[in-house]
Amino acid sequence: MERENFGSKIGAILAAAGSAVGLGNVWRFPIETGQNGGAAFIIVYVICILVLGLPIMISEFLIGRYTHANTAGAYRILSEGSPWKWVGRLGVFTGWFILCYYSVVGAWTMHYTLLSAINAFYDAPASQYENIFNSFVANPWMPTLWLFFFIAIIHFVITRGVKSGIEKSAKVMMPTLFVITAVLTVCSICLPGASKGVEFLLKPDWSKVDSTVILQAMGQAFFSLSLGMGCLCTYASYFDKKTPLAKSAVNVSIIDTVIAIMAGFIIFPSVFNIGMNPNEVGVGASLTFISLPNVFQQAFGDGTLLAVVFSTLFYFLLFVAALTSAISLHEVATAYVTEEFKMSRKKGASLVTLTILVLGTLCSLSFGPLSGIQLFDRNIFSLFDDFSGMVLLPLGGMLISIFAGWVLDRQLYRDEISNGGDLKTPYFKLLIFSLRYIAPLAIGLVFLDQLGVFNFMK
Ligand code: TRP
Repeated sequence: MERENFGSKIGAILAAAGSAVGLGNVWRFPIETGQNGGAAFIIVYVICILVLGLPIMISEFLIGRYTHANTAGAYRILSEGSPWKWVGRLGVFTGWFILCYYSVVGAWTMHYTLLSAINAFYDAPASQYENIFNSFVANPWMPTLWLFFFIAIIHFVITRGVKSGIEKSAKVMMPTLFVITAVLTVCSICLPGASKGVEFLLKPDWSKVDSTVILQAMGQAFFSLSLGMGCLCTYASYFDKKTPLAKSAVNVSIIDTVIAIMAGFIIFPSVFNIGMNPNEVGVGASLTFISLPNVFQQAFGDGTLLAVVFSTLFYFLLFVAALTSAISLHEVATAYVTEEFKMSRKKGASLVTLTILVLGTLCSLSFGPLSGIQLFDRNIFSLFDDFSGMVLLPLGGMLISIFAGWVLDRQLYRDEISNGGDLKTPYFKLLIFSLRYIAPLAIGLVFLDQLGVFNFMK
């Protein structure tokens, strides 16, 4: 079967960066940074990226590009006949799972873009925002309609193929995302009192950094770089043989981290401007859909054009970020289905789309009509979210690093990252050392820590 490649290096990097830059950059990273020591947390985070993130990202790139196959196929090819082939399948399954709940949030960002654009928050009292959100997600129709819309866009891009679908859309959406981020950052930094927000984000406080915070930084680095399943491996299977793997991984990590920090510059100046305590704004959905709409209205002038534009651009930014990540998740499953079951791309993509429509709808409805269905104290959405984030991803990441460090042939590894000897790889020994010892151990710790939180025994 003819297999497509990305048409250019920049296209490949933008697509991978599109996968990495997502909701995680905006709704988790800034608040974690502010609460956990500011610049000190950023330093810990960057160290996590250097010691864990990069080696694993490079390995995922390498496995994908070497085999030119979907993630399940890639591990099967590399581990013929051994149980290691299950790592690839686990990755595909994980991505599929993440996509179901991730799309639900993507759909919410569309609704909030529209609400902002029509000035729907004008004159809403602070207490009203929680109601607006809760009644929206509890509605049986609205979120589901948006979900279908969101998934339809993903489906459209995926069926157009790797070059004219994924790559082309990344080449449009990623620059758009950079420009919006820059514009919002400038607007935000010009607010009176912005310096307090910047200080909250950047003031280094090493006393806050303890083992829990380090584990948190690791988990965040992992999720934010899209590691631990097959996203980057699948994308790398469309890299050409000349793509420098290590350099690409560094570029993707830099883009991801810079956007995450800028998201903090977008959020916190407004929070301080209106005299709110950043410890009250929440994290994740409550930060994004309850606190921030209110914060932006008040900081930029309730109902004014500036507030409307700022808020609309912010949710549109989130939408673009979520969309490019969701596309990468869909591609993992689509590549798997089409290649392993020898289907046309159109058929394979439709099958994947159909399953996420069904499961995504269940996740979406779990805030409304299906909220009664609970397991381990969680609704369906949280089960998908926590099971993939706390169990499947760390497990996948650990297995990938063990596979790359212990199972993969050392010479093959060296040949691939040096592009057959063309590139110098002075970091090679360090990389292997991390893959063999540091990464499995560190991820194992995150895993155990999270399982503790996951209270199955309750
Ligand atoms: N990295 C994305 C974010 O920050 C989410 C994401 C996309 C992801 N693909 C992934 C996370 C694969 C883990 C694994 O929002």
